[in-house]
Amino acid sequence: MENFKVMCSEKEIQKRIKELAEEIDENYEDKGDVVMVSVLKGGVFFTVDLMKRMKTPVTFDTVQVSSEASNDALNIKKDIDADVQGKNVIVVEDIVDSGRSLKYLKDHFQAMGANNVEIAVLMDKSEKRECDVDINYKGFRVPDKFLLGYGFDQDEKYRNLPYIGYIEE
Ligand code: IMP
Ligand code: MG
Repeated sequence: MENFKVMCSEKEIQKRIKELAEEIDENYEDKGDVVMVSVLKGGVFFTVDLMKRMKTPVTFDTVQVSSEASNDALNIKKDIDADVQGKNVIVVEDIVDSGRSLKYLKDHFQAMGANNVEIAVLMDKSEKRECDVDINYKGFRVPDKFLLGYGFDQDEKYRNLPYIGYIEE
């Protein structure tokens, strides 16, 4: 890809994920099992690497929201399979941007009777935030650039890059 600038290398991403896994393990030491809910599609890459580093007993589930355009109404396109009533849930997403989809998902799992719902994101575009949503674990704060790689796509391409970057204009 021409003019591609790496923002986070594979090594930096994996190092930060290890730190986040340790932070989560500490918090859940005496809280029991966790349902890791990965937000399709981009969040899967981060979720898998994070889970592999964790010692807390976890199960894996996925959810997909229908629209990511910031002015469209949100819907659940694919819901989780598990019954999360009384369970600890961590919603794992690639990025928090406006915060609308994560706020929507948090409300959704709380309405399903989860005991506790936390949020983990790899990237935080904090300058774009519109919703007040508490992010419990975050990897990197990043400027407002269109990211590609490690789950981030452009027309479904480039998700498989092991690093994250952007095209310099
Ligand atoms: P929001 O926080 O509800 O605005 O939603 C953020 C969603 O927009 C994420 O789940 C991403 O799928 C998508 N998104 C935001 N920024 C980027 C980007 O830089 N590259 C690719 N997808 C992005
Ligand atoms: Mg997404």
